[in-house]
Amino acid sequence: METLITIKDLNVAYQEKPALWHVNMSIPANSRTAIVGPNGAGKSTLIKSIMTLIKPISGKIDIDGKDVRHALKRIAYVPQKGEVNWDFPATVLDVVLMGRYVHKGWFKRPNRQDSEIALDALKTMKMEAFRNRQISELSGGQRQRVFLARAIAQNAEIYIMDEPLQGIDITTEKLIIDVMKALQQEGKTFVVVHHQLDTVEDYFDHAVILNKTVIAQGPVEAIWNESNIEKAYYEMSGHHD
Ligand SMILES: Nc1ncnc2c1ncn2[C@@H]1O[C@H](COP(=O)(O)OP(=O)(O)O)[C@@H](O)[C@H]1O
Ligand SMILES: [Mg+2]
Repeated sequence: METLITIKDLNVAYQEKPALWHVNMSIPANSRTAIVGPNGAGKSTLIKSIMTLIKPISGKIDIDGKDVRHALKRIAYVPQKGEVNWDFPATVLDVVLMGRYVHKGWFKRPNRQDSEIALDALKTMKMEAFRNRQISELSGGQRQRVFLARAIAQNAEIYIMDEPLQGIDITTEKLIIDVMKALQQEGKTFVVVHHQLDTVEDYFDHAVILNKTVIAQGPVEAIWNESNIEKAYYEMSGHHD
């Protein structure tokens, strides 16, 4: 498999406290990659580093062999739930249209074609009936659908999502996974922080097990085993029964 995202010796700290050290990673193009690890493992830090939202101490992040800064338009980012202000006055359609600004710049008004693309994306996520609803009124699952619709409207090649299945209903979970698999068929790549251990094999084909550094990475069938999971969830935290 061809490598899409390459991370070389990434080191990140918050006020001197290390969050990620010596992270080396290859994420294959057209994969559904899960990033898995305990709370505080640095999963969100890793994702924010890829999105250039955090300045690392050192390290290199490339997309197709070039600095990630050149590829940000190709990436759609769905942040972790708590990091988004949902009281912001905006309709569902407004939020999805934001996906179009990546291509147009912030000063051009969206045109009819942008609206059609946004509505199509809402249809894919079965949210078109909610298009004029305020986002503050939506449930957790509906908000996650809207965010995925925005990413689809962006026509991104790479979807980076931080715990998109956290705190949502099972119908939305199944829909997100179905859409992810369908978009993979169209050539898209997914990098998803995933908090459920029991669904990794069903939902993903590649995985990175992380706890401050990479414990294991590779095809799910090769690396998803008890020994690697224990290393990440028990040994590294100093917890032994
Ligand atoms: N903005 C921040 N300032 C200081 N420490 C932070 C900040 N963000 C995260 N951390 C710390 O860095 C570590 C990794 O956090 P995070 O990347 O959010 O982990 P995960 O997403 O795997 O739960 C944790 O110990 C967390 O407390
Ligand atoms: Mg996190």
